[in-house]
Order: sequence, then structure tokens, then C-alpha cells
Amino acid sequence: MHDIQIAPSVLSADPIALGSEVAGVSNAYLVHFDVMDGHFVPPLTFGAATIARLAQATELPLDVHLMVSNPDERVEDYLGLGARYVTFHWEAATHAHRVALKIRNAGAKVGVALNPATPVWALDELAGCVDLILVMTVDPGFGGQAIVPTAAAKVARVRTWCDEQGIDPVIEVDGGVSPETIGMLATAGADAFVAGSAIFGQADRARAIEVLRAEAMRGRERYGCGLWKSSS
Ligand code: DX5
Ligand code: ZN
Repeated sequence: MHDIQIAPSVLSADPIALGSEVAGVSNAYLVHFDVMDGHFVPPLTFGAATIARLAQATELPLDVHLMVSNPDERVEDYLGLGARYVTFHWEAATHAHRVALKIRNAGAKVGVALNPATPVWALDELAGCVDLILVMTVDPGFGGQAIVPTAAAKVARVRTWCDEQGIDPVIEVDGGVSPETIGMLATAGADAFVAGSAIFGQADRARAIEVLRAEAMRGRERYGCGLWKSSS
């Protein structure tokens, strides 16, 4: 297990003020950038040039989430950012080991994302090369969606799988994370929590981050109690 890590998702920030929005979440742990290509997911967001510029507005490590088709070809564009994590979708990669190796060789940590309908066994052959597992808790593409009902159970299965493999990657959740849902996700075994609307939808972003962190800590205290099904 790792420290509780709150990762504001810039997708939900005010686009007219992106620089100050990124600067305004400095009490978080990571800054999460959602790259959408209009193909793997319907919307388009931003690319490497915008992330590189926004990185100058924060001291926090960058967490880059590639929701793009063909990460085999596209990942290179994101390896010069100095990001801590570069995460690609298992569903989108043709040669996942090769993509992971490219990320590692560039000095970043490897994230593999699973859509809600993708089973945990998709990771079976990747145990040796994953530093972060991104458990999508909504179908990717949009902020502000309701968390899928199976989210906490999936996180618990991923945690069990990691224990069986003898590895301890960061387990990150993304989608529908709020003060109401973050506790059960922490209780189920998540370490990192991406939150868009729950942070940028609040007037006081710094306080929203603190509230999420406090609820996650409370949830983690219950880890191992088998109570994630009923906790919130
Ligand atoms: C969804 C993105 C998320 C999104 C989360 O596809 O990957 O990072 O910004 O937004 P919320 O927290 O509003 O569900
Ligand atoms: Zn994301």
C-alpha cells in the first residue's frame, strides 16, 4: 500500500483559466491529465504541448492518462514531459509489453488502465511491468458521471490479485470519486484517487482536496475489515 494520493483531474477545470486552476491545487499529491483522442473515447481534450506548458504551473508530479487508440504509436509524444506516471489503456494497446517498456525506458512509471468491463485477469501477463493500475470506476470519456456499482468490488479484486502476485503497484481509481464514494474505495484498497468535478466543481479547491483526503483516510482505517461493501 502507498500513501493516500489525491489527483485533481484537469479535465474538469475551467478551460479559460487552466494555468491558475493547476496552480490552485498545490495541496494535492499529483495532477491528473486526461488525454482524449476523439477515437478511443468520443471527446478531444489536449495533447503533450498543453500539458508541458501547464506543468510549469505546478511543482506536483504529473499523472498522464492516455485515453487514446494505438498507444503503441502515440505514447512517444508523452514521454518527454517528465511525468511520474504515464498510463495507457489495456484495451487500446496491441503490444502492451512494448508500450510499458517505452515508458520505463523514458524514466517514467508504467500505468495500465482497465475499463469497468475489463476483467482483472487482463493484467496477468503484465505483473512484472506495472507500477500503477488505474481502475476506471466509470466508462472513460467524460467527467461528472456516476460511479459504477461494481467499483469497490473491482478494487478489492485488484488488491487481492496484487497480493497474489507479490507486487505492490499504486492502485488508482478514476471516475465518480466524491466525498461520498472515496471512503469505500479506500477501504477496498485504493491508494490514488482521481477527482474532477468533486474538486473543480467546488469554489474552494484546496478545501475540497482536504475533505477527500480526510474521507479517504477514514476509509483506509477500515481496510482489511471486509467492510467495503457497506462503508462509504
Ligand atoms: C474520465 C476521466 C476522469 C474524469 C473524472 O474519463 O478519466 O479523469 O476527469 O471526472 P469525475 O471525477 O468528475 O468523475
Ligand atoms: Zn483520467
